[in-house]
Amino acid sequence: MTDVLKVDAEQPDPKALARAAELIRAGQLVAFPTETVYGLGANALSQEAVARIFEAKGRPTSDPIIVHIGDRAQLSLITPTPIDETAQVLIERFFPGPLTLVLPKANGVPANVTANLPSVGLRMPVHPVARALIHAAGVPIAAPSANTFGHTSPTNAAHVLADLGGRIPLILDGGDTPIGVESTILDLTARIPKLLRHGGVPLEAIQSALQEAGLPSHVEVIRRYAAQDETLQSPGMLLRHYAPYTPLTLVQATMGALGETLRRLAAESAPSTIGLLLADEDLDAVAGIPNAIILSVGSLTNLEQAAHQLFAKLRELDTLKVSAIYARDFPEQGIGSAIHDRLVRAAAGKILYA
Ligand code: TXA
Ligand code: MG
Repeated sequence: MTDVLKVDAEQPDPKALARAAELIRAGQLVAFPTETVYGLGANALSQEAVARIFEAKGRPTSDPIIVHIGDRAQLSLITPTPIDETAQVLIERFFPGPLTLVLPKANGVPANVTANLPSVGLRMPVHPVARALIHAAGVPIAAPSANTFGHTSPTNAAHVLADLGGRIPLILDGGDTPIGVESTILDLTARIPKLLRHGGVPLEAIQSALQEAGLPSHVEVIRRYAAQDETLQSPGMLLRHYAPYTPLTLVQATMGALGETLRRLAAESAPSTIGLLLADEDLDAVAGIPNAIILSVGSLTNLEQAAHQLFAKLRELDTLKVSAIYARDFPEQGIGSAIHDRLVRAAAGKILYA
């Protein structure tokens, strides 16, 4: 049985938090909202508690888990201090918030958290429920996204329940997550910072922060899509990840070509119904297609809103049982880079140029 406890996103009920914190301290799992996506949390300092995360998600033990801290005082539990200057600058600027830094791991962090790596992913969430839960539990919380492995990340409690219902004791339901895509992951263990995953903090913002601090602002972007059987630096790099159950194709087209292409694809699929994941600007061009269910993530002029809606709309198309999903591509600027990345992976790399 999985209990779902509703909590106010801004001022979570202390009683609900106390119950969740007690479960964490007892080595159990609790799903909770962060500003990015829902996390599946366990006491990060307990090997046994963390083992339950891998079991509940069906996650390979080679995939390391991000540790969430509640305040600066917990930093030294996770990474040796003092930390280097680049990390200090980025922590100063982006913590708490949707940035994960990969840093050297402290001895007290159990080996299964980092999949035996000498480094650890560290982040300080800004969502009041996440912060209050870490505070109430009194320990850092290890948490991957609260979905079954490889599936679309959850942005509300219903998504978590659909994937993990019956496998975890408690979900704190704080409503929709504000950002909607996961944290940006930046590896600081090499001389040049490496971006392992686009996410809530745009790469451009990281570069300006480095520049303003008088540090080198170049970042190595690992544009790499790994096959399922490769040993990985970041399994978020798997080519197939964040995927709906329905096969998805990413469509890269000029404005004029998109409508025409989707119309033809729909006609070829008749009588079965296809799903289209588009932006408001596309809607006129696809109006009246008889066998298409059309969902929009909003205007191309508001990529934050598109990111916020992306995973929920993918899951919605899945539940509508369409035979195939076609998604428009998004510009690789700001948070659009994260949207583009998730869609390429949701499509397992299948891109249609039109
Ligand atoms: O926004 C987020 O980051 C969410 C919320 C819950 O905080 N968490 C999340 O976790 O997306 P997960 O496990 O779904 O994705 C974390 C990614 C994985 O691809 C993992 O491989 C990578 O972070 N990662 C964690 N520790 C790492 C490390 N030491 N070195 C390289 N990659 C690491
Ligand atoms: Mg994940």
